[in-house]
Amino acid sequence: MKRGPGRLAEPVTSAHTEADRRRTFAIISHPDAGKTTLTEKFLLYGGALHKEAGSVKARSGGRSATSDWMALEQQRGISITSTVLQFPYRDCVVNLLDTPGHRDFSEDTYRVLAAADAAVMVLDAAKGIEAQTLKLFEVCRDRGLPLLTFINKWDRPGLDALELIDEIEREIGVIPTPVTWPVGQSGDFRGLLDRRGDNFVRFTRTARGATEAPEEVVPAEQAAADEGDAYDTAVEELGLLEAVGSAYDGDGFLAGVSTPTFFGSALTNFGVRLLLDAVVDLVPPPTPRTPAQGDERALDDDFSAFVFKVQANMDPAHRDRIAFVRIASGQFERGMTVTHAGTGKPFNTKYAHTVFGQDRETVDEAFPGDIVGLVNATDFRIGDTIYVGDPVAYAGIPSFAPEHFSVARVRDTGRFKQFRKGIAQLDEEGVVQVLRDPDIGDQAPVMAAVGPMQFDVAVHRLENEFGAPVELSPTTYKVARRTDAASAPALRAMQGVDVLERSDGTLLALFESPYWLERLEGDQPELTLERLLAEG
Ligand code: G4P
Repeated sequence: MKRGPGRLAEPVTSAHTEADRRRTFAIISHPDAGKTTLTEKFLLYGGALHKEAGSVKARSGGRSATSDWMALEQQRGISITSTVLQFPYRDCVVNLLDTPGHRDFSEDTYRVLAAADAAVMVLDAAKGIEAQTLKLFEVCRDRGLPLLTFINKWDRPGLDALELIDEIEREIGVIPTPVTWPVGQSGDFRGLLDRRGDNFVRFTRTARGATEAPEEVVPAEQAAADEGDAYDTAVEELGLLEAVGSAYDGDGFLAGVSTPTFFGSALTNFGVRLLLDAVVDLVPPPTPRTPAQGDERALDDDFSAFVFKVQANMDPAHRDRIAFVRIASGQFERGMTVTHAGTGKPFNTKYAHTVFGQDRETVDEAFPGDIVGLVNATDFRIGDTIYVGDPVAYAGIPSFAPEHFSVARVRDTGRFKQFRKGIAQLDEEGVVQVLRDPDIGDQAPVMAAVGPMQFDVAVHRLENEFGAPVELSPTTYKVARRTDAASAPALRAMQGVDVLERSDGTLLALFESPYWLERLEGDQPELTLERLLAEG
């Protein structure tokens, strides 16, 4: 359209403007580092928790009610499933993707990260980087996902700040660039030096951290006089850091090479606002996604989205299946008919929700970066694309190399139908990968997972949701490779090797001995034995 004098400028398309306001990120941490507490405090500062922050926990008997819902989670005090929390903050809309909080690395977390534009890594100041969580952080690094780091629990004794910084770089290989620096050792937390403005921010505790912590910005001279040695030490430490070049590096952050680092205490709210401000200031807004083939689809093009999570029976009162999609382009309007790229079938989006813990709210419109839960989208699988207008298909979300394999059998053969239905559902949701021996069929599928806790989830759900109690027998397989039909007969003939089929048609060769596999790779290069994503 031509613009000329007297003409109004073209209106900026709203999908693009709205996308610019979105900050879509996930919090990742080792269990107990404080992810749930920090999530609640973000909601408190975002004004989304009108009640006292602590009351959410109290009501659910000690665990968060906003994101934990399954009985198993409550029994175990872990969070397996994830939900999405949306709240406005400043002039932005924050989408906080909740990741499962259990010890094992789970593929579910990886899939959630595929829908996030950044992650906040929460560390416990007393523990630093814990071995079991390392893999998760490495996955973020390998994906080049922008990573912010929050060193939590500074209100109680912990490791030395410089030591923690050193550990992050050594263990994960991303360079920490502290944005805030604590005044007072862990356990004697006075406030934070904010390197962005060279300010000292002093906090005051409130009862149980239930309301925002009052903050006071104190000029350097006065802070030095008030805080004495603690202040001088912090300034000295920052001097040391400056000498080794730890200044904030925007490009390095966006490339996942460096991680802006913050200190604080989610419990007392110290440093929470500074972190949330940084999320809004530093996390990149959604950018156009490049499809598997063809050119990238502009943010203000027609609607498109991809499925990153499928979850059935989240709420016993509803007993339905929700496909969570992240919007990649355009405006979503509830009731619109979209096309499912995999099947070409139309799907009406009349039942579109956001899910906030157990509460569902209807979504009428949404924009790039937002997450929408579509109810009863039975054909949708993880990684699928949906669109309006010109067809588009984004690259799928790859699955990981499983490292644990167990055979599942239904205890009561009268419940076989329910068992089969449950297994199919868990497979679709990606709770476990389901492998079958073509000769045995559905009787005794092999469940495969990256972390063994997924088996607990599968067994619990088969029994409680599908009424099909199962027995798991461990197998001796330790490692898997992708193979093909040509190599399968030779592999099957070997001892300690089996070839099973995954539901997506992929043939997986399972080996009892990694040593045997290594020898085979050397001795028989004609066999197809491809590595799967992210071997442990
Ligand atoms: P998670 O989601 O990462 O598993 O951790 P969560 O927030 O549940 O926190 C784990 C424990 O650490 C909780 O204590 C929580 O209160 C505590 N915590 C979180 N942030 C801080 C902090 O900044 N300082 C201190 N001192 N503690 C913190 P709990 O005793 O297990 O539970 P609760 O009885 O307090 O709910």
